[in-house]
Amino acid sequence: MKQDIGDLALFGGGKLFPDPLHVTRPTVGSKDIFLDHVNAAWDRLWFTNDGPLVRELESQLERELQVDHCVLTSNGTSAMSLVIQALGLKGEVILPSFTFVSTAHALQMIGIKPVFADIDATTWSLDVDHCRALITPETSAIIATHLFGDTADIEALEALCRSENIPLLFDSAHAFGCTHHGKPVGGFGVAEIFSFHATKTFHTFEGGAATTNDEQLAARLRKMRNFGFSDFDHIDTIGTNAKLSEIHAAMGLTNLAVFDDTLIANAQSHDHYAKILATFTGLTLRTPPEHVASNHHYVVAEVDHDTFGLSRDNLLQILHAENILARRYFYPGTHRCAPYAESNADAHLPVTENLADRIIQFPGGASIPQEDITKIGWLLAFLAANANEITARMNRLA
Ligand SMILES: Cc1ncc(COP(=O)(O)O)c(C=O)c1O
Repeated sequence: MKQDIGDLALFGGGKLFPDPLHVTRPTVGSKDIFLDHVNAAWDRLWFTNDGPLVRELESQLERELQVDHCVLTSNGTSAMSLVIQALGLKGEVILPSFTFVSTAHALQMIGIKPVFADIDATTWSLDVDHCRALITPETSAIIATHLFGDTADIEALEALCRSENIPLLFDSAHAFGCTHHGKPVGGFGVAEIFSFHATKTFHTFEGGAATTNDEQLAARLRKMRNFGFSDFDHIDTIGTNAKLSEIHAAMGLTNLAVFDDTLIANAQSHDHYAKILATFTGLTLRTPPEHVASNHHYVVAEVDHDTFGLSRDNLLQILHAENILARRYFYPGTHRCAPYAESNADAHLPVTENLADRIIQFPGGASIPQEDITKIGWLLAFLAANANEITARMNRLA
């Protein structure tokens, strides 16, 4: 542990963690269960193309998410691309800038203009009034994000989309296992998409899904993920290869079997941070409102430079030097990322821009040892106590 600010790795001291500590480490269930599934696939010599493990995982997810149809895909981005194309979206689609860049790319790559709306300063969900102001005759949908284990302003967005007669979709990559007024995320809007990337709280190594209660949409998505084939000789529609393999589904079945434990472990990590951050001022942990049961997978805090004493970016620099690879998700906001910056040079998204400058994500989730959180907490308290001296020394180094 550090006795003096000279012991900080940034100033030449030893690193607090010998190996990089990422914001999430994959959660894993039982290796034996995983290998049993893999052995069964091996014996069947059936590795992909809508195999029994994929079908089993789809059924289990439909039950878990209380939704009629779950269509597994190779990743979350392909699920979003398929839904966008299956619904025949065109023209313009409204989405938050404060989200992962994949949705904007999925739209832009097929010539649909992503129109970036701001988020609400309290909920961090798409600002419904701003969405309303951005609607034009070209608007074909709104795609909201359930962010950081919280849910979007679902009812207000539904009302807006109903009155405009446009579909509402959700990027639910951060919200697997969350509920909104007791109903699981997965059955809202016309469709929701999930990412099952290894960094997510439920994962299939790589993978994703679209969930919907619309039978026709689900049938179209199933064909589109397999080149448009409806049977051996019939190709009814344009499609691509967005299938999930049996090995990926095996990982999903393994992780789903322990998902209740994962949620408990996520909550323990989150609570541990909450207790630590309450011992000093300046880092406010994001906690969802009461109507949301969070998956607690994301440990996100707002840095108040004035009360914490260090800027968000100085804090990040210090943590990275200690091998704590905290992130400033989502920075700088999609509308400021290179492919979108020029066409959005006049965009005014004050809440997004302000939040992108203040937010930090700490290592969390089910797989981080509690002792590591204790060490991070100790370091954060040390930084808070010595912030002025540290800032002065960083300024001299700059
Ligand atoms: C909010 C959000 N949406 C979409 C995606 C894309 O998912 P995938 O990486 O599975 O394509 C991610 C992935 O990190 C994400 O965080």
